[in-house]
Amino acid sequence: MQQDKLEEKVMDESRQGEALVIEGQLTGKKKLYIESYGCQMNFSDSEIVASILHKDGYETTRNMEEADLVLLNTCSIRDKAEQTVRNRLANFNTIKKENPDMKIGVLGCMAERVKSKLLDEEKLVDLVVGPDAYRDLPNLLEELDEGRKAVNVILSKEETYDNIAPVRLGGNGITAFISIMRGCDNMCTFCVVPFTRGRERSRDPQTILEEAIDLRDRGYKEITLLGQNVDSYLWYGGGLKKDFDKASDMAKATAVSFAGLLEKVAEAVPEMRIRFSTSNPQDMTDDVLHAIAKHDNICNYIHLPFQSGSTRVLELMNRGHTREQYLDLIQRVRRIIPDCGISHDIIAGFPTETEEDHEDTLSLMREVEFDFGYMFFYSERPNTFAARKLEDDIPLEVKKRRLQEIIKTQNECGQRRLQRFVGTDQIVLVEGTSKKSDDDLFGRNDQNSVVVFPREDYQPGDLVKVSVKSCTSATLLGEAKELIRR
Ligand code: 5AD
Ligand code: SF4
Repeated sequence: MQQDKLEEKVMDESRQGEALVIEGQLTGKKKLYIESYGCQMNFSDSEIVASILHKDGYETTRNMEEADLVLLNTCSIRDKAEQTVRNRLANFNTIKKENPDMKIGVLGCMAERVKSKLLDEEKLVDLVVGPDAYRDLPNLLEELDEGRKAVNVILSKEETYDNIAPVRLGGNGITAFISIMRGCDNMCTFCVVPFTRGRERSRDPQTILEEAIDLRDRGYKEITLLGQNVDSYLWYGGGLKKDFDKASDMAKATAVSFAGLLEKVAEAVPEMRIRFSTSNPQDMTDDVLHAIAKHDNICNYIHLPFQSGSTRVLELMNRGHTREQYLDLIQRVRRIIPDCGISHDIIAGFPTETEEDHEDTLSLMREVEFDFGYMFFYSERPNTFAARKLEDDIPLEVKKRRLQEIIKTQNECGQRRLQRFVGTDQIVLVEGTSKKSDDDLFGRNDQNSVVVFPREDYQPGDLVKVSVKSCTSATLLGEAKELIRR
């Protein structure tokens, strides 16, 4: 990735900055405008929200001015993400002055974290709904109409929205997300997610398979199984992951692990590409690696955050793995899945991080040679262990400088990794027209690297063999050789 692009991505909070305006074919009387920020899970949740409100008579619109209901699906992962949301809410309130009947609601992690303060003290919104309470939206909207407060931030031990068919909106019609679990039990000390999304619970595999088959039947070509910690997926008839020990022998014997789920999905839709995100080193088992190696349609790509290369810092982060264990896992990945694409998440400037710890992060990056990654500087989040017990003692300039060094190292490694594809043929799933030229298409190879090539007669959704001729810092450039499948 080019330095400027990468920085833009990083500074823009990566997955935390982009707004998705959803527009669909829904028809109804009232108009819903929904914008999503943050992780893929939030984008996926917005499709569930659109589905619930569709049944309640809403159609979606791209034009906020004409909306009866404006929803913001929010992220709390870093302070900047929350600032973006507050700015956006201020904009919405300016528009509301012209249209006082318009209702404004906050969904997602920030709704859960800040709760009714957004409504009572800050008077920025009419409605506050946490990630496990979306089924309650129709009731809450009724309460609002009757002049009552509309807040539901109750976290659930069961909710997985498994019987709600998401309305696929705003996508490319080729790739789609399937949410397989909710919450996170890992309690990394920097992370607000366990507080905003609650305990870890897995979704019934049968409903996951049904959703995959439905997507295939509607012409989708790739699915990404989503969860905060997919390797921890465990279905034993419902219930929290932490209660598995108390389950009956029968439930234990028929339990489905993440590796089991991956295989079931791969077999149910053999013509689709399967991806998944996010993995965690401490929970990833060799079974998952063998499942990837065994099935051609499970992509050879793993997003494996490591956060820091220093075991001392990893301990303070409560990551559950050391530097050595991470490197050992990478070796197993390389052995079991030759030529697997691997990406990372890194946090620069966690409390007490020394220059030596930082050097450990850079050396781990060089040792692994990641294909790409998402890099952030530490942002203290209220009520997390780190906020309560550790002083945010690394000055901002130092955090930024370390982040720049991490980005530079990633650019060098990423470029070297891309070079290995030059002169080879890659199978590319075409996702759309290249941003730079209408004459070119773009897609991804198995390892998730972006490939651009002249359009000729190919089209989005095609699986094409592309001969790679060269690469920029983040993109492979080539020429189509033949159509594999349309
Ligand atoms: N500050 C900076 N980055 C964070 N992340 C999570 N919490 C924080 C925080 N408080 C990063 C981690 C995680 C990714 C989704 O966001 O790298 O893997
Ligand atoms: Fe946060 Fe750690 Fe869970 Fe990821 S694994 S959501 S970083 S607590």
